[in-house]
Amino acid sequence: MFTKSPNPTGKTFPTYDPRTGDVIAHVAEGDAEDINRAVSAARKAFDEGPWPKMTAYERSRVLFRFADLIDQHTEELATLETWDNGKPYEQAAKIELPMISRLIRYYAGWADKIHGLTVPADSPHLVQTIHEPIGVAGQIIPWNFPLLMFAWKVGPALACGNTVVIKTAEQTPLSALHAAKLLHEAGLPPGVLNVVSGFGPTAGAALATHMQVDKLAFTGSTETGKIVLELAAKSNLKPVTLELGGKSPFIVCKDADVDKTVELAHFALFFNQGQCCCAGSRTYVHESVYDEFLEKAKARALKRSVGDPFVAGIEQGPQIDSEQFEKIMRYIRSGVESGATLETGGERIGDKGFYIQPTVFSNVKEDMLIAKDEIFGPVQSILKFKELEGDGNNTFPNCRDINEVIRRANTTSYGLAAGVFTQDIDTANTLTRALKVGTVWINCYDVFDAAIPFGGYKMSGQGREKGIHCLSNYLQVKAVVTPLKDPAWI
Ligand code: NAI
Ligand code: MG
Repeated sequence: MFTKSPNPTGKTFPTYDPRTGDVIAHVAEGDAEDINRAVSAARKAFDEGPWPKMTAYERSRVLFRFADLIDQHTEELATLETWDNGKPYEQAAKIELPMISRLIRYYAGWADKIHGLTVPADSPHLVQTIHEPIGVAGQIIPWNFPLLMFAWKVGPALACGNTVVIKTAEQTPLSALHAAKLLHEAGLPPGVLNVVSGFGPTAGAALATHMQVDKLAFTGSTETGKIVLELAAKSNLKPVTLELGGKSPFIVCKDADVDKTVELAHFALFFNQGQCCCAGSRTYVHESVYDEFLEKAKARALKRSVGDPFVAGIEQGPQIDSEQFEKIMRYIRSGVESGATLETGGERIGDKGFYIQPTVFSNVKEDMLIAKDEIFGPVQSILKFKELEGDGNNTFPNCRDINEVIRRANTTSYGLAAGVFTQDIDTANTLTRALKVGTVWINCYDVFDAAIPFGGYKMSGQGREKGIHCLSNYLQVKAVVTPLKDPAWI
């Protein structure tokens, strides 16, 4: 599979099976010259057509056909996803692939509903706004949800009539190549979508720097987000949207349903091997339910089934690669050294692949690294919150416990998401408005409909993906002004 390299240098790189560390395939390694070629193809397809010159309805039909093909090819796509990434096959096939075709249909539905306004002027002028595609969109995606991230990026860009150069993550190049083939089968004209497999500092940086790329969308670490933003600014000032890391608080109030909340907190952190930007990675529990919660959270982690992700019923597969595996193990050691209590887990499983025991820390404090950094692994950190004693600066004097947890939850440079668990509407409303995050889930977590916008405050990013809000990332608004001669009205 994919062993022939069509790229000018003839270079390839291996992609690995995280279950064993064995090579699955050698993939063409795109570098700056490949990015040049891909951008030229995308430029030509945008400037000369036919894609932007097709009717919006015709474009929507291509995307609808693509969604149908995704549904028909779920098994192959989910297999590639699990093989390359290590996520449970059932998760890929039953949760992610249906989300992907749904999202493509959502944006297919938007394609022919994007239009401007006729704007009243103060003088006799006809003023119109036209929403135009922005041009060539450059997109860089990570490895934790390879196909879902492909869909989040490509779906809205194509629906708006843009052409695309997308660089996949070096850890997971396979599934997007297959999806691109299906898009062409669906009738996407040549040059409209260009997938480049390759590494960040070479292919990724070339895309971010390219003078012929009109817009850049990036998902990945905050560190790399800063680099691509700088590259975009230093080249042609292309607008950039960033979806970056997180350290999302999961807040369990004193009146929360403990059993349900334990299960949701477990899901919020351990889903996808803990490799989620919005993982609920700081579990704040009110002192009155803390002991019960902790005991149950530990029992749930001990019950989690870890193993070969192709086996039915397995909840957790291996981490993506040795680099992430080592990083997570370093954080576990740092948690122990900084004085947090290791309740369960903390060890490697087996001697092959990158499996880690579901790990729970209690007595976690905000100044510990495990409470500050994005661990991106199966490590739950539980923190206790309680009533503040005599704090005169309280904003909400009747709920001092809530004040404390608001202050602590916001003590982070990230601001992606939060979970709030309470039966009290006032507590929920107070927390919702005070938390500096892009998404608040109340008594639920990780609800990801295509129509719900997603993105970060602070260093979790810029702009929103999904929903109606994402369309503006891929459109220019042009004002057209014409004098009106003897108008019947203005
Ligand atoms: P990364 O941010 O370096 O990689 C994401 C994408 O950016 C990949 O396609 C990569 O090739 C590309 N890239 C890397 N360096 C680049 C550069 N100089 N110019 C242009 N593109 C570049 O993330 P990485 O190294 O895979 O993981 C490191 C940490 O990042 C993880 O441990 C996790 O904490 C976080 N992360 C967050 C994700 C999210 O969904 N927000 C996804 C993946 C990682
Ligand atoms: Mg990196």
